[in-house]
Amino acid sequence: MRKWPVVIFALVLTPLTVHAAENAPTFAEDIAPIVFDSCTSCHRPGQVAPFPLMNYADTRKHAKSMRRVMDDRFMPPWHPQEGFGEFRDSRRLSDKQIAMFSKWVDAGMPEGDAKKTPALPKFPEGWQLGKPDLVVEMDRPFNVPAEGADIYQNFVIPLGLTEDKWVTAVEFRATAPVVLHHILYFLDDSGRARAKTSKEGQPGFPGMGFRPTGSLGGWAVGGIPSKLPDGLALPLKKGSDLVLQTHFHLSGKTEKETITVGLYFADKAPKRTLIGLPLPPAFGLFSGVDIPAGKAGFKITDSFTLPVDVDLVGVGAHAHYLGKTMKAMATLPDGTEKKLFSIQDWDFNWQGQYLYKEFVRLPKGTVVRSEITWDNSANNPRNPSDPPVRVKWGEGSKDEMGAVNFRILAANEADVPKLREALQTHVRQTVVHARVRGDVIEWEKLGVPPPAWWKETPTPKKQDEPKKETPKAPVGFRDLDGKEQTPLTVDGAKANVLFFITTDCPIGNSYSPEITALQKEFAEKGVRFYAVQVDSELTADAARTHAKEYGLSMPIIIDTKHQLVSATGVTRTPEVAVILPDGKLAYRGRIDDRYPGLGKKKPAPKQRDLKDALTAILAGEAVANTRTEAVGCSIPDLPTR
Ligand code: HEC
Repeated sequence: MRKWPVVIFALVLTPLTVHAAENAPTFAEDIAPIVFDSCTSCHRPGQVAPFPLMNYADTRKHAKSMRRVMDDRFMPPWHPQEGFGEFRDSRRLSDKQIAMFSKWVDAGMPEGDAKKTPALPKFPEGWQLGKPDLVVEMDRPFNVPAEGADIYQNFVIPLGLTEDKWVTAVEFRATAPVVLHHILYFLDDSGRARAKTSKEGQPGFPGMGFRPTGSLGGWAVGGIPSKLPDGLALPLKKGSDLVLQTHFHLSGKTEKETITVGLYFADKAPKRTLIGLPLPPAFGLFSGVDIPAGKAGFKITDSFTLPVDVDLVGVGAHAHYLGKTMKAMATLPDGTEKKLFSIQDWDFNWQGQYLYKEFVRLPKGTVVRSEITWDNSANNPRNPSDPPVRVKWGEGSKDEMGAVNFRILAANEADVPKLREALQTHVRQTVVHARVRGDVIEWEKLGVPPPAWWKETPTPKKQDEPKKETPKAPVGFRDLDGKEQTPLTVDGAKANVLFFITTDCPIGNSYSPEITALQKEFAEKGVRFYAVQVDSELTADAARTHAKEYGLSMPIIIDTKHQLVSATGVTRTPEVAVILPDGKLAYRGRIDDRYPGLGKKKPAPKQRDLKDALTAILAGEAVANTRTEAVGCSIPDLPTR
């Protein structure tokens, strides 16, 4: 009895179902174009995917799992989040295509008229970009075992170039493409990588631990080699070795891999200079990457204010297994928020580098921000440690690092030096912040000696466990009387004002009465003033004489290592920086506008920027004008840098 209703139901519905099937998508007309365009490039013999998807039979056989991986957007592999930047060669399927595939599976996977099936795309044999200008090869094969953990191996290939070149593209050929998962193309003219390889046995050296001197980008499975747009090219210094940092997935059988690399050169130097904008610098080495065991959502952020108009060309992200999300946003000077890049579920296996479809123009004054999070909890299926352990910055695959790295251009090539200078300042500030926080950098583990300026700055106590709260800055600045001062830490005050000077800058000296007057007015309201002498060779005696001559009564610090210069980003004397209790820089620039330019002086200032900033801070208001251009003498770089 129970069967009856079903049968009746089926009888009633039969004509309808047939009708629906007639309208259902067919392989020949609707599905083949999706599969051939989006799947077959990898799912064919000799490529990396585990089975071919080249015809109706293949597709029918795998249809159910194809639907599942398309629904989860696991396949085709494409990791940038929709809406955060538009990229070239996007593999993202549209919702419509995914729905179509699903409908086809539901309809019983009809083939349709086989004659209407499109031809398979022509997958180029050989070099996809044409004949390379230079072809190099590993000197012997790397034996890839059948099983075990994933392998990271670096192969060093001397290029033998006797002149500098400009590289527009890199392509490679693999003898075992099934196991080769990604390659990062690094350059090394220091000999460091070469020194790590042995003459016998397996070629190259294992791991991710190696500091390159340049980079030519990278490739991940299925990535289409392409030339840089608009005549752009990357510098390749003569005498450099090419270092292939590779990642192998083991296949269950042994393989031999000999990678051949083709380099494509530009005829001439590019008109525009590609520049790296790493957020944070050095993959987070100075950004406090120290992740407690079990912690989900450990986060670091970084930001950089563009000193000139900039075009974004491309972007990539990097972290190891615990990396979870990477995001980059921009706040334009008019307050508009722009989404630049986002990966929501970082997968170390798919290191992508992405070129924007169109350059993204960002005007001067735009703040570019990045945020990277890690998941070191036991719930992270990719966590290599069970139970989770504390993880610090490092180059091993169980260590962590993280950054969003942009490739950018100055909109006006003439602005390149200014852009570079600002980037250098950004790096220095990051380093000084690490120092002020008391970060412990394990230089020995990194295998390089710390730079001199790092060693000479006061070393904070070693910390065994990650700190629970922001530490009090262990700064060791002493004034001329040998008294410890904390200009970067606003302790029991409303703000600190740092007044950067030299003994011989006339404009700086001319401001002595003004800064002293401001000090009188604001000191009793909780603002501390410090004079910072930026001449690293100045003797204490000379500084004392100068202070006396110009009537400076605030503590005077000789910034011998330019730590304060770096931390605040000042570039001139006289220039002032105002620090808030949360450590943020509230204002940087001129004291007032009485000097419109060098050699020009107004009888009286119209705009009193420092005074306005301090008044706003004391009133609990936002500082209206947080950055101004100081007029005066340039602060020279320290010779040691
Ligand atoms: C860029 C190369 C590439 C493209 C394009 C690609 N795949 Fe894959 N596919 C792979 C690789 C590699 C694997 C093996 C899994 C891995 O390594 O993560 C895989 C695995 C799979 C699996 C098995 C998943 C599992 O583990 O159960 C399915 C199903 C699949 N792909 C379907 C598709 C479909 C459908 C498309 C097109 C819409 C597609 N793939 C496009 C590379 C690719």
